[in-house]
Amino acid sequence: MSRGGSTGSPPRALRGTHDVLWPESARWERFVAVFAGLAHSAGYGLAETPVIEDASVFRRGIGEASEVVGKEMYEFVDRDGTLLALRPEGTASVVRAYLQHRPVLPWKAWYLTPAFRHERPQAGRYRQHHQVGIEALGTADADLDVEVIWLADRFFSLLGLSDYRLSINSIGDERCRPAYLLELAAYLRSRADELCDEHRGRIDANPMRLFDCKRPECRAVTEEAPRMAEHLCPDCAPHFARVLAGLDALGIEARLDHRLVRGFDYYTRTTFEFASGAMEAAQNGLGGGGRYDALAEVLGGPATPGIGFGIGIERVLLACDAEGCFPADPDPLDAYVIDLTDGAQARDLSAELRTAGLAVDRGFDRRSLKAQLGAADRSGARAALIVGDQELAAGVVTARPLRGGDQRTLARGEVAGWLAALREES
Ligand code: HAM
Repeated sequence: MSRGGSTGSPPRALRGTHDVLWPESARWERFVAVFAGLAHSAGYGLAETPVIEDASVFRRGIGEASEVVGKEMYEFVDRDGTLLALRPEGTASVVRAYLQHRPVLPWKAWYLTPAFRHERPQAGRYRQHHQVGIEALGTADADLDVEVIWLADRFFSLLGLSDYRLSINSIGDERCRPAYLLELAAYLRSRADELCDEHRGRIDANPMRLFDCKRPECRAVTEEAPRMAEHLCPDCAPHFARVLAGLDALGIEARLDHRLVRGFDYYTRTTFEFASGAMEAAQNGLGGGGRYDALAEVLGGPATPGIGFGIGIERVLLACDAEGCFPADPDPLDAYVIDLTDGAQARDLSAELRTAGLAVDRGFDRRSLKAQLGAADRSGARAALIVGDQELAAGVVTARPLRGGDQRTLARGEVAGWLAALREES
């Protein structure tokens, strides 16, 4: 093995993954801060769970037959032989954490997580994407469904988005769904020769999965298929009616979509999705979610109803670009310190100003005034603070506003106040 020498070109991020650097990352920070503030306003607390889990959490939770588990999950065998998986989504992990720690119910959690899926990368579709989301466990109350959907809708409007729509459906529960699935499978078999090649032979595995197929031949058949929302049992029907009435009462427009079954096996009752009208239809899903009242039991715990959603950060930022809202304009630095002596002034003054709550950067390596002024300009700071031999001898600082205004000489003790006033003015 060679040491030290360069061997070819430097490594790059893997296909379908991406780096987020400043100033775009400043936009991510604000995005998460807006989401966190909203989640807190409704009683949701942050849940941080590991990004690797025993693969069974997702295999059991999401379902072996789902596309995400069957085709896209990143799995690997650990050194001790355990099958692990990189989290493809947030819900199964949060429910696993609930079952492990049993916080008091109802339990409301929000999260920020990378999610890994081996998809065919393209604009808006990545192998590592990022989600903010919430999960609420412990009540089947339909008003919680309304709260969760309202929060997603409110978040999009806080970002300034307006060109999006909400689709909603109810896919019933273990009481009404089995009979419906039999009827659906019988219907699909009666039109099997019209289905696409992939789905013709897959009716019996899970007939509802055919609703996800976007090929025109399947679409034509599923458009006329029996609808779950018309086969709901005496528990699920009023539940769905109350969700729809609640959304209406809060002024949220929702379009019924009988094909909205979503790709995870854990869903029961309410399913919903937000899609942008400003983006390509293939990648216009901003976020989606639903109820999963049986998931805790599937993972081996007691029956615990739950509902939540996941919102794709990259997708939503692309929608913001398309709509021209929520720009990447990071908070500027208050000052950039230019030290023309031996650097000790920049060291001490920066620490003093940062301690006073100001945002300050500085030049290093004792570079020339010209080079440091150039760096100060590029930093976007509101002001440059210059300390040369004369300033040092007099115990003062030359303060130069970088966005208009007159240069002045300040005593060291006046600098923080002057910068705070400059921030206030801008
Ligand atoms: P999901 O619909 O698979 O749901 O993902 C949520 C959102 O993540 C999507 O609406 C989309 O914005 C974004 N997303 C998904 N896959 C990709 C990708 N490959 N590249 C970029 N963005 C992507 C879930 O993950 C569920 N856990 C949501 C949920 C929470 N249901 C109940 N609670």
